[in-house]
Amino acid sequence: MDKKITRRTALQLGLGAAAGSVAGAAIPGPGPSHCVTPAQTEGPFYPKHDQPDKDADLTMVDGQTGAAKGEAIIVSGAVIDESMKPVAGALVDVWQANTHGKYHHEDDPNTAPTDPQFQGWAQLRTDDDGTFSFKTIIPGAYPVSDEWWRPPHIHFKVAKRGYHELTTQMYFAGNDLNEKDSILNELTDAEKSRVVVGFTPSDEHDGANAGHFYIMIRKVIA
Ligand SMILES: [Fe+2]
Repeated sequence: MDKKITRRTALQLGLGAAAGSVAGAAIPGPGPSHCVTPAQTEGPFYPKHDQPDKDADLTMVDGQTGAAKGEAIIVSGAVIDESMKPVAGALVDVWQANTHGKYHHEDDPNTAPTDPQFQGWAQLRTDDDGTFSFKTIIPGAYPVSDEWWRPPHIHFKVAKRGYHELTTQMYFAGNDLNEKDSILNELTDAEKSRVVVGFTPSDEHDGANAGHFYIMIRKVIA
């Protein structure tokens, strides 16, 4: 798992010439504020009720036997600020639909099956180097209307005192539904590149597909 914000990672973020930094080292000059991760709507399915198991493995639920249905994946990344400095101790709230496109939420009108083995929600803290990672499954698409299906996506809310809270969504590169999604299409192409993530098989995780999501948030200016 990547534990450092490397030059290569910065280049993946599209930070170009500003990418001469490693974890902990600020970039001189103005920060690449145009690279801040774009906000996306929270949506109606943020969990209403607390649950005991909110750890980094969403494919297993305490007290349940067996694993969540669907294709297991690893999502890792880091929270960084506009100066490319890692943001340690940030709360990373993650929630998503199950493999059938159904949320563990009483207001979800989707008639798709529930999955008691799927955790659906995690609350993580970034490490000292700003990194986080979790295991989950690729969420299913779900209908909003007859004409509109939301593409598979994972909701994120990132918070830390001294920074602007960010709510956004992460998408899966190559999914056909991305092109028609009204919410993703609120973003420019450059902004889309910050939230659409490619997944590739990872030897480190027994061949499971893994992707990296780097989240840039803004400091509150006093
Ligand atoms: Fe959603």
